[in-house]
Amino acid sequence: MSDKQRITVTVNDQEHDLLVEPRTLALDLLRDELRLTGTHAGCEQGVCGACTILVDGKITRACLMFAVQLDGCSVETVESLGSPDGTMHPIQRAFSENHGLQCGFCTPGMLMVTQELLRREPRPDAETARAAIAGNHCRCTGYQHIVASVCAAGRAMSEAEHQHVDRQDVEHQGARA
Ligand code: FES
Ligand code: FES
Repeated sequence: MSDKQRITVTVNDQEHDLLVEPRTLALDLLRDELRLTGTHAGCEQGVCGACTILVDGKITRACLMFAVQLDGCSVETVESLGSPDGTMHPIQRAFSENHGLQCGFCTPGMLMVTQELLRREPRPDAETARAAIAGNHCRCTGYQHIVASVCAAGRAMSEAEHQHVDRQDVEHQGARA
C-alpha cells in the first residue's frame, strides 16, 4: 500500500491537489513534479540559498522542507515574477540593468529574497540590502552589483507606486470636478 499523502498547496496562485511521498522534498516537488525549475538545487543542505522560495510570504529553503509540510500553504517561486508575455518584473529588470547576475545560478534565490525584503522595506539602503542577501551565496558577482540591483528595484517600485497614487488622485479629482 502506498504511503503517499494528499496535500493541497497553492503555488504562484494556482491550487494543486497532490499525492506525495513523505520523504519528498519541497524542492523536488517544485522542480520534478510541478516543473518549476527556476528554483535551483545548489548545496541541498540549507547553506547556499539557491532554492529560496516564499512560503506564506516567508523566506524558506525548499531543500530543508518536506513537500507534505506545504499542505495548506501558499508558495511563491521565481516563476511568480514576470509575465507570460515576457515582460520583466521590476526586480528582474533592476538585476538586468545593474548587472546583478552573471551565471544566474544564484539569481532566483536573490530575486525571491528581494521580493520579500521590498514588501517590508520598500526603499532599502545598501546595508539593509546586504543584510537581506547575507544568506544567499553568489560565486560570480562579488555581491556589489546585487546590492545595487536590490536598491534600484526598491527605488523603481516605490516611484511606480507613487506615480500610480498620483494618477489615481488626478483621476479622482477629475471625476469630482
Ligand atoms: S540548495 Fe537549498 S540552501 Fe542550497
Ligand atoms: S551569478 Fe553566478 S552564482 Fe551568482
